Amino acid sequence: MIESSSIPTIEVEKLVFGYPQQKPTLRGISFTLNPGERVALLGLTGAGKSTLLENLIGLKMPQSGEIRVRGTKLEQATLSQARRSIGFCFQDANDQLFMPTILEDVTFGPRNYGVPAGVARDRALVLLEEFGLLEFANRSAHELSGGQRRLAALAAILALEPAILILDEPTNGLDPSWRRHLAKVLLQLPVEVILIASHDLNWIGKTTQRALILAEGQIKVDRNTQDLLQDISTLEHYNLPPDW
Ligand SMILES: Nc1ncnc2c1ncn2[C@@H]1O[C@H](COP(=O)(O)OP(=O)(O)OP(=O)(O)O)[C@@H](O)[C@H]1O
Ligand SMILES: [Mg+2]
Repeated sequence: MIESSSIPTIEVEKLVFGYPQQKPTLRGISFTLNPGERVALLGLTGAGKSTLLENLIGLKMPQSGEIRVRGTKLEQATLSQARRSIGFCFQDANDQLFMPTILEDVTFGPRNYGVPAGVARDRALVLLEEFGLLEFANRSAHELSGGQRRLAALAAILALEPAILILDEPTNGLDPSWRRHLAKVLLQLPVEVILIASHDLNWIGKTTQRALILAEGQIKVDRNTQDLLQDISTLEHYNLPPDW
C-alpha cells in the first residue's frame, strides 16, 4: 500500500441519497478513508452498499452532503479527475465488459487515457495471464463463465493502475482457489485505498483491516475487521451471521 500523503483519500460527509418515490436509501453517511487503509463495506442485501459506492464515483449524485476525493469536492467539474484516480468494479461484470473481445476490454481503459497501444496490450496480457484468461483473450465476455467474467472485469480495472480501488462484491462467482488468488493479488497492489463491498465475511477477514456496516441508511459500525468478526453478537444484531 502507498501512504503518499496526509490528505484523506475519501471523505464522506452527511451524504443523503434516495431513488425517486422511495425513502432515502442513504440517510446521513459520514466516514473517512485514509491512505493505507483496506476497508470492507458490509450490510444486508438491499442495504445500499452499491448505491453508496456509485455515489463515491459520481455515477449517482448526492441529494445533500458532500464527498471529497483526495481533498477535492466531487461535482460535475471534478468528476473526470476523480474517476481517473478510482478503479471501480461493478457488482455485475456485464456492466464492465462491452468490447468484442476481453483483450480489448482490458486495453480499452488505458488506451482511453493515452497509454500507447503496445504498452496497453502488454499490460493486458500480463493481467489476463494472472487471472487465468490468456487462452480466452480473443473471446467476448458473453462466451465466458460467470467467474471468468468477474476476473476479466477485475483485470480491466487493474489495467488502469488506479490509486484507489473500489470493488463491489469482487468474489461473486469465484471458486475458493480464485478467491484466495484474488486476495493475494489485492494484498500486493500498490494502491492508496481499497474499499470492498462484500457478503463474504471470511474473505474480507483476510483482505481488510477495517469494516463498516451499513444499515438503515447509516454507517452503524466502524471497527477493526478482526475484532468485528469475533464479535458474533454484533454480527447477529445486524443479521450478518458469519457462517452463512
Ligand atoms: N435504480 C434503482 N431504482 C430504484 N431503486 C433502486 C435502484 N437501485 C437500487 N434500488 C434500491 O435501493 C436499495 C439499495 O440497493 P443497493 O443495490 O444499493 O443495495 P446493496 O446493499 O448493494 O444490495 P446487494 O447486497 O444485494 O448488492 C434497494 O432497496 C434497492 O431496491
Ligand atoms: Mg450491491
